[in-house]
Amino acid sequence: MSDSPFKGRSIAVVNDLSKDEQLYLYKKTTELKERYLNGDPLEDFRLNDAELGCYLFFLEDSTRTKESFRNAALFHGVKLINFDVSSSSVKKSESLMDTIKMLFGYSQRSLFLLRTPQEGVCKALDETLEEYAKVLGKEKPAFINGGDGKHEHPTQEFLDEFSFLEQKKWDNREIHILLTGDLFHGRTVHSKADGLTIFDRVKIDLVAPKELALPEHYRERMVENGFTIREFESIDKYLDQKDIAPIWYFTRLQLERMGDEVREKAAYLRRAVTFRKDFLEKIPQGTKFYHPLPRHRETPTIPSFLDSTELNGWDVQSMNGFFTRVIEIAMVTGKLGGDFNGNLLEKKSFDAQYIEEIKLSRKTKVEDRYKVGIKPVDRGIVIDHIGRGESLDQIWTLINRIRKVLGLNYRSSHGVYHCSDTSIYKGIISLPDIFSFEQKEIKMLAALAPECTLNFIEDQSVIRKLRLHMPPRIYNFSNISCKNENCITHPLQFQNVNTRFHRHGETFVCSYCEKSYSYTEIWDE
Ligand code: CP
Repeated sequence: MSDSPFKGRSIAVVNDLSKDEQLYLYKKTTELKERYLNGDPLEDFRLNDAELGCYLFFLEDSTRTKESFRNAALFHGVKLINFDVSSSSVKKSESLMDTIKMLFGYSQRSLFLLRTPQEGVCKALDETLEEYAKVLGKEKPAFINGGDGKHEHPTQEFLDEFSFLEQKKWDNREIHILLTGDLFHGRTVHSKADGLTIFDRVKIDLVAPKELALPEHYRERMVENGFTIREFESIDKYLDQKDIAPIWYFTRLQLERMGDEVREKAAYLRRAVTFRKDFLEKIPQGTKFYHPLPRHRETPTIPSFLDSTELNGWDVQSMNGFFTRVIEIAMVTGKLGGDFNGNLLEKKSFDAQYIEEIKLSRKTKVEDRYKVGIKPVDRGIVIDHIGRGESLDQIWTLINRIRKVLGLNYRSSHGVYHCSDTSIYKGIISLPDIFSFEQKEIKMLAALAPECTLNFIEDQSVIRKLRLHMPPRIYNFSNISCKNENCITHPLQFQNVNTRFHRHGETFVCSYCEKSYSYTEIWDE
């Protein structure tokens, strides 16, 4: 049991399991389901650990996720605690961190199954409790995300993928799937951007009016993952063409997460993504419909006349939630995994160099370079190429932000100038009284104005030049924050989780809620 590579691992997002690890989860689920349905012995899967405190910590309503996890935990014979939020000090504004630390102290070993309106909670808890467990000399607890805001719902994704594989008789060479409903708010749809990568080729048809369209960053992630995407604004429009997906995934309209403007149009929007009787004749034989459930009892996007038809894949899908969650608990508690021989999750590396030394071909006299409107510097530092090619407004904003964030209140000058290509502009800050920057300041500058250069000047000559690229990871800066108010790091959440961004291409991504930003958007004004 102790040689399982999954023991103590948390599942905050789909990508917390590698593709091989996900396939292992599906293989074990198949074995369990088969044995379960045949009435065969199940002890190989069962934890039987009365000292493992398994906490159902649900701050939002749930039926399937909570009840399937409750039943999975009961199957495992663990100490199951249904944490009652309504009568706890969470109601009195106690922080999540305090609450979880306290619960962690009450059991030898712990597993937390959570649903929260805040996003990125499992990752934050995993990091905080890892440190805390070390202090106490206890085993690190594992956290499983049962849905966080409109971010992700990885265990729903795993049961969805298991259901698709089951339908496709375990052939994962390709999938053609239609996603419809509230693609904007639906975290089960967002998780598909990564979950569907277990298939070698993925073709996705997104069917939703623009108000409910998939957020751009999930769409981009699908494109990056090599998916082919087609978009349609309604089921009607979709059925006007002939290439119909054999797997349809519906979601409900998440009115509770919508702004008033969109909520007012709910009836009209719902029509675009609701199945109708007259569509039936256009649906090819063998098509299956799925839905994470719940369906709205008055206005379901899959109407009840379909319940007893061959299209119904959602009832089996819902049952699969129990089987996949039994296996997920068995994996993160180390009961399963000893026989895993695939590729483990690779640890993300943040070692990429962001400071580039630029070779000087000759000692350049500064009069040649920094003479337009700025007094040439005999000795000091010149920050050059600030916002090269951006608009004049943008360059001035960058100059002002650099001065403010780095506290450059010294004898100095700055301005916006033509580049050598006179059709574009750049900013320059000239600092005759500064001779070096701390590493942290260089990193800040790299994040403030990627691709700027730092020119070190002695005797009126540039003796060293560095080009700064976007750093692979930034944290512990007091002037940055994730602007997503639901993110666990957002100041209004009062959870004292420090902001951290990692670089993804030309964007900074919040390491907790995964919202992505341009380098200009992360700074507090
Ligand atoms: N599919 C799903 O997450 O359902 P619940 O909200 O009932 O858990």
